[in-house]
Amino acid sequence: MEKTTQNAAMFRIMMELLEVDNLDDALKGALEAIADTLKSEMGAIWLLDEKTDKLQCVYSVGDCDLSYVIVENGIGAEGYVTKTGECVTKPVMEDAAGTDGCIFDDMGNKTETLLCVPLKTMKKVIGSIIIANKTTGESYTPEELDLCKKMATMAGMTIEEKGLDLPLKEQGKVIISLRNITKDYPSGDSVLKVLCGVNLDIYENEFVVVLGESGCGKSTMVNIIGGMDYPTSGTLTIEGKDFSKPTEKELTEYRRNYLGFIFQSYNLMPNLTARENVQFIAEISKHPMNVDEVMRLVGLEDRAGNYPSQMSGGQQQRVSIARALVKDPKMILADEPTAALDFQTGQEVLRVIEKIVKEKGTTVIMITHNVEIAKMANRVIKLRGGKVSSVKININPLPADEIIW
Ligand SMILES: Nc1ncnc2c1ncn2[C@@H]1O[C@H](COP(=O)(O)OP(=O)(O)O)[C@@H](O)[C@H]1O
Ligand SMILES: [Mg+2]
Repeated sequence: MEKTTQNAAMFRIMMELLEVDNLDDALKGALEAIADTLKSEMGAIWLLDEKTDKLQCVYSVGDCDLSYVIVENGIGAEGYVTKTGECVTKPVMEDAAGTDGCIFDDMGNKTETLLCVPLKTMKKVIGSIIIANKTTGESYTPEELDLCKKMATMAGMTIEEKGLDLPLKEQGKVIISLRNITKDYPSGDSVLKVLCGVNLDIYENEFVVVLGESGCGKSTMVNIIGGMDYPTSGTLTIEGKDFSKPTEKELTEYRRNYLGFIFQSYNLMPNLTARENVQFIAEISKHPMNVDEVMRLVGLEDRAGNYPSQMSGGQQQRVSIARALVKDPKMILADEPTAALDFQTGQEVLRVIEKIVKEKGTTVIMITHNVEIAKMANRVIKLRGGKVSSVKININPLPADEIIW
């Protein structure tokens, strides 16, 4: 690698680290810069929790979702490097004690080449950065290892300066699993490949935001999760049960009792009041919540008698949330719920969604193209090229009140 390329890479990572004011984004920027510069398919950043002596992955790039994965310090390449402060490379990593494995392989990816370097502050090692599988198929060179070490050191110093408060969140129960999900649409004589092998787990009581450019397949993926569309191939598992080919009855039961939906458009019945719109759904639900309680939860107890035409967009959207919520669903799927709203009414809606996750323990998957809103989530999933291209844990999610756009 040429000196000028190296300098450009160092400069980029410096800017990534200096320009962001929150640590999550700094780490994300650092890993992206490293994986990009060294043309790697996958990468992950691990942080050590000193209290438990365990490592947690806080950000991964590529098709390798390591969310909430926690490993013992000292185990695997990422643990070995954190414990010893030494670097590990594959193909030669078998030589280093305890590094016979790497988490990417444990999670079903095949690691051909790998670089793992310590994330260091002036005083100690606080984690590690792994990148793997150079797209050229070659091994990483000694210069690349050296560059990666330097970049990791800069990242470590930033972490030290910004302060690291790392509450490890244990991996919860997986409720939804997507494995190699593909979706093709016929398009003239050919096919449009919208999803090309999506792998993703959704955990109980988490708030997941799905980001990605318009047309990248966000709605398609969420519709498949919601049983409103079906995959071309792949496996969908819901609560441990194979749901790739559900019966009509299973599908209806799932959509009616397990899920709540919120869309960009409110789809309220114009001839019913806010309360009646919600009551109507309560009546056909298996285990409905108290309608007045739901109206309170969405902050519309004073508006319950209004018709949709007498309400603002934000209020109407909150009625549609109440309607999704009154079924007492385990999970809510929200497709761009704030896209049609201005900042103020959009924020009202976000506050309600935040409250549902916190107070009712509902799992929420929300699609948005607004990167600011993603800061509220527990996890941010990015789709690109029909696959999951990165997964980020927000170490400290922002309250809805602090989201500005
Ligand atoms: N029913 C359909 N028939 C054909 N093409 C579709 C259909 N639904 C979606 N698509 C196409 O699939 C791609 C992804 O759409 P979508 O999942 O809605 O993207 P996003 O929600 O990320 O904007 C788009 O190119 C869209 O035109
Ligand atoms: Mg969409």
